[in-house]
Formats: sequence, structure tokens, C-alpha cells
Amino acid sequence: MTGRTGGRPGWRPRGWLSGIRLRLTLLAVLVVGIGLVIASVLVLLLVRHDLTGNAQTAARQRARDTVAELGSGALPRPPDAGEDSPVVQIVDRHGNVLASSPELRGHGPLLPQRATDQHSVSATLHKPPIGDGAAYWAVGLPADHAGQPVSVYAAASLEPVDEGVQAALSALLIACPALLLVGGGTAWLLVGRALRPVEAMRRQVAEITSSELDRRVPELPGTDELGRLARTMNAMLERLQQAGERQRQFVSDASHELRSPLAALKARTEVGLAHPAGTDWHVLARDVHRETDRLDRLVTELLLLSGTGAPQDPREVSEVDLDELVLLEAAAIRARGEVEVDLSGLSAVRVRGRAGQLRAVVRNLLDNAERHTDSVVRVSLAADENGVELVVADDGPGVASEYRERVFDRFFRVQGARDRDSGGVGLGLAIVRDVAAAHGGRAWIADSPKGAEFHVRLPFSGQAY
Ligand SMILES: Nc1ncnc2c1ncn2[C@@H]1O[C@H](COP(=O)(O)OP(=O)(O)O)[C@@H](O)[C@H]1O
Ligand SMILES: [Mg+2]
Repeated sequence: MTGRTGGRPGWRPRGWLSGIRLRLTLLAVLVVGIGLVIASVLVLLLVRHDLTGNAQTAARQRARDTVAELGSGALPRPPDAGEDSPVVQIVDRHGNVLASSPELRGHGPLLPQRATDQHSVSATLHKPPIGDGAAYWAVGLPADHAGQPVSVYAAASLEPVDEGVQAALSALLIACPALLLVGGGTAWLLVGRALRPVEAMRRQVAEITSSELDRRVPELPGTDELGRLARTMNAMLERLQQAGERQRQFVSDASHELRSPLAALKARTEVGLAHPAGTDWHVLARDVHRETDRLDRLVTELLLLSGTGAPQDPREVSEVDLDELVLLEAAAIRARGEVEVDLSGLSAVRVRGRAGQLRAVVRNLLDNAERHTDSVVRVSLAADENGVELVVADDGPGVASEYRERVFDRFFRVQGARDRDSGGVGLGLAIVRDVAAAHGGRAWIADSPKGAEFHVRLPFSGQAY
């Protein structure tokens, strides 16, 4: 019934819905059916019990009446029993029938036992000497006749019991299927109505393609499961839409940034080829090299960024000595000899993570600090019980408070820092933040008396793995 949920062309859209509908309806019919069977059995038992009681009361009453008549002296002459009234018999203690209803004439005692002073006797006669085969219920009471003990027997037919049970059964056989039909039909309608919004939602979602992520499924009022399902779906569509927009923006920004070095390369080489004689090929080669270097850096950063959010191979995760990464990058700055690097706050710390990504974090922060500082770059590294914290501070102009969040955005650069040769295209801090987040940590800019102070906090073992 279920399982055919793929978007294949031949798929019947209502297939799985009617599957649930059918199953719930069958379940309802089953439950109602079990209830009806139990109720029917109880009704039949009650009817049987009641009607049997009636027959027994009638027989007992008839016997008592006859005993009373015997007490007045004469031997009573029992009349014709008639249709459904009990028959009577008076038997002495030797088993001789003294008197009986006309129906019993010529037959022996109804019951083999005699009634005595202590107790009466009773039994169901399955093969009674009278009637057309229906069982009788007989009772015997003790009495006296002419100073002799006698037994007075009375028997009533149990035929009304069988007839009554039969009639009740016939009525139930009509009523129960009708009730089942009504119950099943109601369940079918109710389940169908309850599932209708699900089908509407499914149809809407099926129609949404990646170019129409602004569409939403119909929201239902209320807090029931379907209302929540619709809201959850819409929230998911919202996130998909935002992710799609970010993706498009990123691709367009990246293409834009790739275009300018390519345009420069193209222009330089075209001019050179058009005027080969007047071209200093050495200078051109240097320019081409500078632009390809920019391209190379840009592509490396783009690749790094695309890797931070994606699920990755856990084998790339290892123990990384952050202090060693800092020492390596600081050595490069010292080699250039333009600014001083203060490593007095550095202690040896080790985290679990991806060495390549963590190295890019250290390098980007130190690059920025080197570029913006006046004289000195201070790097410290410390660990506490929660994780490690890397701080890179400089004594340059700092980052204005309104930009402290935005500098971490992709392709964002503070105006004035846009002159082509100072640094990259605004991806450095985006990489820092993304890597920190992918390792279960975060990055931010703290207040400082002078310059900028970048903090990166990482847990010892990133939960991202
Ligand atoms: N240490 C710093 N001091 C002042 N401004 C900084 C510092 N580091 C980064 N910034 C600002 O943040 C912006 C984004 O930095 P980043 O993402 O590394 O891009 P890029 O280095 O390519 O400009 C930079 O353009 C710069 O204006
Ligand atoms: Mg940078």
C-alpha cells in the first residue's frame, strides 16, 4: 500500500493517502466489530437466562398451586395444560401416578427422584415424554394426600427460550452489520477529511522547484499536528530559500572578484601582443605573475570556504599544535621585517581539528594584523577547562564598532581598505569565522584601548566531527 512515494511519472498521487485511509477504516471496523460481538453474546445470554427463569417460575408456581389444592383434601383433576402452561403429575412414594394433566396420561413419573420433606427436586428434561421434542424443565415438591407422602411434579416447556434466543439472534444479525457499515463509513469520511490538508501540502511541495523557493504550503490555523507540519515545512522552505540566495550571491561575488585579475591579465597581454616591439616583456611577466598570484590566492580561499561547511572525511581530523602554527606564521612576518611580533602570551595548546583550516585561521589573522598595525602584533594562546582561546591584537586603527560583525561577512571590506594591493578580497575573516564554527567554536572582535583585538575560541575537540 505504501512505499510508492517517489516522484515517478506513473505514481498515483492519492495512493498512500488512501492506504492510510483504508487501514484506519479497517481498524475502526475491526474495533467496532469486536465490541458488537461481545455485546451480542451478552444480549443472547441475558435473553436465555431471563426466559429460562420465566419457565421455571411458571412450573414452580403450578406445582405450589397443586400442592395447595391437595391440602384441601380431594385429589385434584389437572386440566388440559394448554399451549404454554405447565403440565402436572401427582405420584405416590412407590412411583404410582395418582393424577396427571391429560397430556401426561399413560406416562410414568416425570422425574426419577421423589420429593421428600427435606427437599424438592428439579431437572431439565431433554427427552420429555410430551411435546414436539423441545426440552422441559421439571420440578417436584413434597405433599401429603390422605396421610401418605406424595410428590407433585410440574414441568414447563423451554421452547419459548429457544424461540426468544432465535429471535434476538436474527435481530442482531441485521443490526450488527448495519452498525458496522455506519461506523466504517463514518471513519472513512472523517479520516478522508483529516488527510485532505496533507494532500494539499504534498501537491504544493511537489510543485515547488528550486527556482520557486519563495512559495509556501498552505498554513492551517491551530496547533495540531498538521498545523505544526505546515509551519515546519514553511520554515524549511524559508531556510532553503535563504541558503539559495546566499549561494547565488556568493557565486556572483566570486565571479566578480575573479573577473578583475582576469581582465587585467587580458589587457596587459593584449597590449603586449599588439605592440611587441615597445613592450618590456620582463615587466609584463612580473605583472602577469602578480595577477596570477592574486587569482591563486582567491581560488585557494574559495576552496577553503567551500570546504568548511561541507561534511568532510573524519580521517582529516588530527591533534593540532596551535602554538606551532602561530610560530610558523610569526616567523614569516619576522622574516619580512616590517613589524614586530610579541609572542610572550603564547603557551603550548593542542586541539583536535583540521590542520589546514586552522592554519588558514592563524595566517589570515596575522596577515591582517601585519597589514593594519603601526608597529607591533601581539599574539597570545591560552587554555582553560572549556577550550583554547587565540588572541591576535595590533596597535593600528582598529575596526569601527559598526563594522565588527560585518567584517566577518564574505567579500566584505571596510571602505578605504579596498586599494588593490592591500590584502585579499574580503574572504579572510569569513574563513576565520567559518572554520571556528565548523570546529564548534566562534570568532569575534573584542574592545581594546588601541588597535584591533581578534579572538577565536575553540573547544579541545570540536563537536563538528
Ligand atoms: N587587524 C585589523 N585592523 C583593522 N581592520 C581590519 C583588521 N583585520 C581586518 N580588518 C578589516 O576587515 C576587513 C575584512 O578582512 P578580511 O576578511 O581579512 O579581508 P581582506 O584582508 O581581504 O581585506 C578588511 O578589509 C579590513 O578593513
Ligand atoms: Mg585578510
